[in-house]
Order: sequence, then C-alpha cells, then structure tokens
Amino acid sequence: MNKLYLWGIIITAIMLGATYYTVVLTKGGLNGDIVNMLAVAGAVALVIITVFVVIKYVRQMQTDTATGELADESWDDIGEYKNPVPFGWAIMFLGTMIWGMWYFVAGYPVNAYSQIGEYNEEVAAHDAKFEKEYANITGDRLVEMGESVFLAECKVCHGINADGIDGKAANLNVRLEAKTIKDVIEHGSNNQLLGMEMPMPDRNGLFNNNTGAPITDAEIEKVSNYVANGMSGEGADIFAGTCAACHGSDGMGMEYVAPSIAAFNNTLITNVLTHGKKGAIGTMPAFDRLNAKQKEAVAAYITSLSAK
Ligand code: HEC
Ligand code: HEC
Repeated sequence: MNKLYLWGIIITAIMLGATYYTVVLTKGGLNGDIVNMLAVAGAVALVIITVFVVIKYVRQMQTDTATGELADESWDDIGEYKNPVPFGWAIMFLGTMIWGMWYFVAGYPVNAYSQIGEYNEEVAAHDAKFEKEYANITGDRLVEMGESVFLAECKVCHGINADGIDGKAANLNVRLEAKTIKDVIEHGSNNQLLGMEMPMPDRNGLFNNNTGAPITDAEIEKVSNYVANGMSGEGADIFAGTCAACHGSDGMGMEYVAPSIAAFNNTLITNVLTHGKKGAIGTMPAFDRLNAKQKEAVAAYITSLSAK
C-alpha cells in the first residue's frame, strides 16, 4: 500500500479518536439528541473528506510534471508558461469589477443609509423637539430650567448655593464683591461684558470730575465698598464724580458705554458665558456649548438669586 494512504488512515483514526474522546468522554455522549448526532456525523465526514483530498493533492504534487510552451522572458531563471487565462477566472474578474461599480454607485452610494447618519438625524429631531418645547417658557419655569443648567454646568466651581465655594469662583448671590471692584479699578477690565470690545480704563484713566485728579487709594477703597454694599453707604460722592458718567448714577450701566455694576441682568451674564471672564478671582471659562435659551435660563436663575 502507498505510504501516503497509510498515513491518511492513521491521521483519520487519530482525529476520529479525538472526536470520540471529546464527545463521549468529556461531554457525556450524544444523549440521543438528533442535532448532536448530525453535528458528529458532519465532523466525521469532514475529517475523512479533508484527509483524502489532501492525499490526492500531495500525490499530484509528487507525480505531476509541468508541460507547455515557455515564454521568452525569464526572471532570475524563473520561467513562465504561456497558459491562457482560465475562462472561469476571467469571468469572475469581470464580474467582480461590475459588481464593484454597482456597489459603489447604486448598491451603497456615499449618501446612503448609515447608522451614524440615523443617530445624527434622531439627535437633531430630539433637539428640535425640545427647542420648540422650551422656546417660549418664561418666569418661574425659566428660572427652574436655569437652576438645572446651573447644577449641571456651574456648581463645580460656583458651588451648589452659588456662593463661590470660599472664593474659588465669584459669589453669584451678590453682584460684585469689593475685592473684584478694587481689582478692576486698579487694572482695568477687558472682558467684553457689553458684548463688544469696550475696556474699562485702569486707575490712571479714572479721574475725579470734582477735583480733576486721578483716583486715590482711599477713594478706591471707599467707592469699592459703596458698590459692593449695593450702592449705599460712604462713597456716593466719589461714585457720582468718577464712575457715574459711564456706569450711570444708579450703577445700572448704559448700553454701549458700560455694564451694570449694581445688578445682574440677562445681557451681562450672557456675555460672560459667551466670552468668559478674567478677574481678581480667576478665570471664568466661556460656555459656548450652551444654546441661547440655556444661557437666558441660567441668567434668569442667577438674577433671581441676588433679587431675593
Ligand atoms: C470711561 C468709562 C468708565 C468709567 C469712568 C468707569 N467704568 Fe467701570 N467699566 C467700564 C466698561 C466699558 C466696563 C466693561 C469692561 C469689560 O468689558 O470688561 C467696566 C467694567 C467695570 C467693572 C467690572 C464689572 C464686572 O462684572 O466685572 C467694575 C467693577 C467697574 N467697571 C467699576 C467701576 C467703578 C467703581 C468706576 C468708578 C471708580 C468705574 N467703573 C468707572 C467703563 C467705565
Ligand atoms: C471652571 C470654573 C467655573 C465654571 C465651571 C463656571 N464658572 Fe463662572 N466664574 C468662575 C470664576 C473663577 C469667576 C470669577 C472671575 C473673576 O475673577 O471675576 C466666575 C465668574 C462668573 C460670573 C461673573 C460674576 C460677576 O459678578 O461678575 C458669572 C455671571 C458666572 N461666572 C456664571 C457662570 C455660569 C452661569 C456658569 C455655568 C454655566 C459658570 N459660571 C461656570 C469660574 C467658573
């Protein structure tokens, strides 16, 4: 008998033995289950067919000799037969190209359905739905919405009561703290609080209109406490003479000239959220990921805190 067939039988026996070992000895047998029986029958058939197909080709490799006309070219002594392209191969090649074009143009064009596209569409639809739902809310509901935005986005720095966590960020229960006002008078301010470039001059540009002299340390101290105390107490005369021209006699600001320093308002907070703010306490990041309604809502919430 050919040695090859002997090896075939030995390998078949080993593989069938391994199958028997796995199925009967470790998995507890077939238990009369028709599906298990079919699976094992399939496995046995696969083993036998595989071994004998391999034998066929190994034999062919052992006995075959190449025939045919050699092409003239030789690459490092490796020749090439002038065999025609196999017909089935050529058909497959053409078919694949045609299928490829169809797939690109009609089967799955660039703008066809995609899961990401579907997700984006659904998100946009939900956003539109909520934008519509919340577009016209006002009053208490707006403040409530603002509180949710605040708790989600702002409390990490400003604290759950908006008190600024011991000076980590601005205390939003009051319009301005004395140290912020002092710092602005000393160094000026350029935070686009009016929504545009309109800086506040530093102390060298601030003159007391009554005396004509630059503002003094004592005046800075007094006027800062006056503003921080809600525009009351000592310092009213300094404010009237030095600040009122821009900020208004009541400190409520003037459009295009200076922002309100007596009270929060929607425009001021929206501008802080849009441009951020650098000051004595630190840096307030810009919050452009909030949409206009969310900014309006959180502004309403903050305004409601100091109005209480
Ligand atoms: C020439 C006009 C002008 C005068 C005078 C002026 N300010 Fe201002 N002030 C501004 C402008 C403009 C801003 C906004 C600057 C910005 O966008 O950062 C501002 C901002 C401020 C801020 C910052 C507000 C905030 O939210 O951070 C404070 C505080 C302030 N001014 C206090 C004063 C005081 C107190 C005086 C008087 C001593 C004074 N200003 C005089 C124009 C003026
Ligand atoms: C990373 C920390 C941080 C986060 C988050 C943050 N802030 Fe601020 N915020 C600050 C700091 C610091 C200041 C003080 C800046 C200064 O020195 O004047 C400030 C100042 C402000 C001011 C100006 C107060 C004033 O009297 O001039 C407003 C308004 C404000 N924040 C609103 C918000 C809102 C609304 C959110 C949430 C959408 C928010 N902040 C989130 C740090 C933060």
